[in-house]
Amino acid sequence: MNTFKSISGTFDILPDEYSAGGDTIAPSRTWRHLEAVVHSVMLQFGAEEIRTPILEPTELIARGIGALTDIVTKEMFAFERGSTHYVMRPEVTAPVMRAYLQHNMVQRGGTQRLYYVGPCFRAERPQKGRYRQFHQFGLEVIGAEDARADAEVILSLRNILEALGLKQYTLRLNSLGDEESRPAFKAALVEYLTPLADQLSDISRKRLETNPLRILDTKNEKERVLLEKAPLLSDFIDEASRVHHEQVKGLLSDVGIDFVEDPFLVRGLDYYSRTAFEFESPLLGAQSSIAGGGRYDLLSKEVGSKQAVPAVGFAAGMERILLACAAEEVAQPAAPHVDVFIVALGDPAITWAFWAGERLRQAGLRVTYDLKGRSMKAQMREANRQQARFVAIVGEDELAAGSVQLKNMETGEQHPVRLEDIATSVNA
Ligand code: HAM
Repeated sequence: MNTFKSISGTFDILPDEYSAGGDTIAPSRTWRHLEAVVHSVMLQFGAEEIRTPILEPTELIARGIGALTDIVTKEMFAFERGSTHYVMRPEVTAPVMRAYLQHNMVQRGGTQRLYYVGPCFRAERPQKGRYRQFHQFGLEVIGAEDARADAEVILSLRNILEALGLKQYTLRLNSLGDEESRPAFKAALVEYLTPLADQLSDISRKRLETNPLRILDTKNEKERVLLEKAPLLSDFIDEASRVHHEQVKGLLSDVGIDFVEDPFLVRGLDYYSRTAFEFESPLLGAQSSIAGGGRYDLLSKEVGSKQAVPAVGFAAGMERILLACAAEEVAQPAAPHVDVFIVALGDPAITWAFWAGERLRQAGLRVTYDLKGRSMKAQMREANRQQARFVAIVGEDELAAGSVQLKNMETGEQHPVRLEDIATSVNA
């Protein structure tokens, strides 16, 4: 019988690093380190954690993301049960806005800074740095129109990347203007590109009808040349958005954040207005975007709010950040040590080790032992694999004497120690 394998585009996170589909999958402790950095930086910004379900009503995503964007048309894991349409969340911004509205969080007062860490699902073709189940952390600042909210979102992400030790990334920034700027620009772009349609790739020709702004993302050289003479979004930006954009840029400069202005940056999701940004790593090949975000003042109404709720946020791809850390050879946390490995010889000692191990854990130590009743040599090998700092050897003689032979694995020194003195010796 064939053994089962994880589904293409998904992966296991193991205690050890390994290679899958050309990518290196970081060990679980490295993921935990990344999560710890996220929690700690978010705490510094006064952000509070929110956890939303993996399953959401499809209509939330279809509406929130825009009915014809790529995510909705082909990138969702969606299904029906009875009369309910379920989608496995492809992102967390629309779910957070849903939760904010559902729980009337405006009542808590002030601005809500809500952050999250968790899996997302997109039915994209898997490739290096692109998965079907991937993980995001992100921050949504809800209820603030002020440019400081936009800048703060970018700053918190910069601080996380810095705390991780990442150096090589670029921030691309653009303003998409208000509710009217985009449709006006979209119309001008379509007018410019329609006569050139036969020179476009199949996918761009399709996008000309469904989601023309995505054509600006093209990596196709021929299309990039065509776009050189295309109308510029910046010429369609309203005055208030222009002022807001200048403020955001000023605030970023105040805290030493470099950015590149990119008039072609429109982002894949179409709920954005005003600020849009992306962090890229030059070391990741085609899937270079490690994080993205922007302002989405229009989303709340799209998901059913009577009032517009100003909001801005980012989400970062954790796999890509870890790949960038590996590519930059950023130091990763070492495997944790076991304090004491009990090498037990003979049945009475094996029974004793189970009980004594727990005594030592109660004293605050990390303790383990072999579960197979193997030879002394095999147990010592296991102790080495677990990088034990000390080995406590116990056989019949030691049991009779009421002590163990405590061996310091670094120095090789060994001497008898009573059970109640082990913690003191180990911590000395
Ligand atoms: P997004 O650009 O679709 O934005 O995704 C954010 C990040 O998630 C990307 O920059 C990338 O690192 C990672 N990512 C996306 N798809 C995949 C995939 N298939 N495999 C691996 N990583 C992936 C959003 O999701 C918005 N919700 C961001 C946002 C928050 N806007 C406002 N607030």
